[in-house]
Amino acid sequence: MRLLVCGGAGFIGSDFVRRMLAKHPDWEIVCFDKLTYAGNPDNLASVADDARYSFVKGDIRDAETVAAAAKGADAIVNFAAETHVDRSIDEPTSFLVTDILGTHALLEVVREMGIAKMVQVSTDEVYGSIAEGSFCETDRLAPSSPYSASKAGGDLQVLAYHRTYGLPVVITRGSNTYGPYQYPEKLVPLFVTNALEGATMPLYGDGRNVRDWLHVDDHCDGIEAALLRGRDGEVYNLGGGNERTNREIATIILDELGCEASMIERVADRPGHDFRYSIICDKAREELDWSPAVDFEQGLRDTIRWYASNEPWWSKIKHHTGEFADWHRRWYEERTAK
Ligand code: NAD
Ligand code: TYD
Repeated sequence: MRLLVCGGAGFIGSDFVRRMLAKHPDWEIVCFDKLTYAGNPDNLASVADDARYSFVKGDIRDAETVAAAAKGADAIVNFAAETHVDRSIDEPTSFLVTDILGTHALLEVVREMGIAKMVQVSTDEVYGSIAEGSFCETDRLAPSSPYSASKAGGDLQVLAYHRTYGLPVVITRGSNTYGPYQYPEKLVPLFVTNALEGATMPLYGDGRNVRDWLHVDDHCDGIEAALLRGRDGEVYNLGGGNERTNREIATIILDELGCEASMIERVADRPGHDFRYSIICDKAREELDWSPAVDFEQGLRDTIRWYASNEPWWSKIKHHTGEFADWHRRWYEERTAK
């Protein structure tokens, strides 16, 4: 198998690259990534010298560069996206450009080159919030944020290309993912690294919003299963089955690091904040033979300890590029002042 992995230098994509090279000695992977603020070559340092691995810097919107990188590829797995809900509220345009137009550009490459499979990595956020019950793959899309609306736009393009041109595409919709190497703007790595530095954890609103947490290794195994066993034109939900409030997550972090509850700082809520995400994953279980294996409490505590032991990785991001500090100031100063 020769794979083109777009967005492979980010959190989930880099786990997928490392994990698939370890699991499949006969696979070759080309990682294609624009290296935005979230793309980090350090995430791939452990495979950089592997003869089966190569890296191409480029934008998924640039069809010519993608096509050159995709030469000889049996499949494309697309992780490339702008991914942070708060940033999408702050500056939506780049989300529309990459998550919709970028996905469209990739579909054109698949169509023109006759690539045998494309997996589009999407999110449960496209369904929107649900107070009770859970969404299945045929439920209507009702995204709330510019991020989730852009991901939904990408999904609709993918499904339209299957319907219209018969493209061999599969979509996965994973739930909130946690694990090592996540950019420290998202809940888990932000709260853990803040606590490690003695800074407060900025909990939005009353902290009762619910997310379904999935370990990154389980998420990648689900994407692998969709690549190998997914039916063309189909969507597969990949959830962890671990619904927790944000306050519960914060409490586990405090407990693991031996910090006081006073480290939690309630701040102004996110505009349009989805209350709860919840998905039914029977289809992935039955058709892909996939189910998550990592125990949540164990996986989260291991993840917290990974950040505690890998301070150079996140400290470089938080303190040695101006980018993170600029974002943090722009977003949180205003929220804590309210
Ligand atoms: P991330 O922000 O850590 O990584 C995104 C990667 O895409 C980065 O390496 C970045 O450089 C690259 N990228 C961005 N724009 C690009 C472009 N125009 N061309 C090429 N590369 C580009 O994101 P992540 O958390 O690893 O998420 C990966 C995928 O999984 C996304 O599509 C996201 O929507 C989806 N997803 C994430 C979660 C989650 O909880 N993190 C859950 C479900 C689905
Ligand atoms: P996040 O990790 O940004 O993922 P998503 O918005 O895609 O679910 O946020 C997860 C939850 O944590 C969400 O309900 C918002 C909340 N949150 C906070 O309370 N404080 C924060 O500083 C961040 C980044 C998130």
